[in-house]
Amino acid sequence: MSCEFKISQEFVKKVDETITHYPVSKRSASLPLLHLWQEEFGYVSNQGVEWIASKLDLQPINVFELVTFYPMFRDKPAGKIQFRVCRTLSCALAGGYELFDHLKKNCQIEGDGHHGPAVSPDGKYSIEFVECLASCGSGPVLMINDDFHENVSNDKANELVKKYG
Ligand code: FES
Repeated sequence: MSCEFKISQEFVKKVDETITHYPVSKRSASLPLLHLWQEEFGYVSNQGVEWIASKLDLQPINVFELVTFYPMFRDKPAGKIQFRVCRTLSCALAGGYELFDHLKKNCQIEGDGHHGPAVSPDGKYSIEFVECLASCGSGPVLMINDDFHENVSNDKANELVKKYG
């Protein structure tokens, strides 16, 4: 197992406690554990896949396929400033894809962002699509790190990039 992250006792305790919520099948704890790992380490590395699999008595492939299937999981690090653009219908109709392209161009990011973050060459910015952020009447909706922004025009996006940059 590659060990790029040091796993604290506190994290192990949190994981073990979470597993107790699934007494019938430990496998059902896969998604909650992936969320915990990503919250703790920023992305789900091979080490994360293998560690979670061993905790749940699964094969790594059983965990890895969840990481690749669900767009909310990242298998590589995001940038320091993370953009998440809603791609669900209302936001798409309100210009979410145009906003995405605008931010990409502005921050010199390559990649499509449909499966995990596309990162700028300097590692400063990353961008990815996410599903509905529950503010469908005020699209396009953009999250920057943990902050929520609505009705984000290209001009507003430029101001936000300056503010966070
Ligand atoms: S469709 Fe974008 S927030 Fe719901």
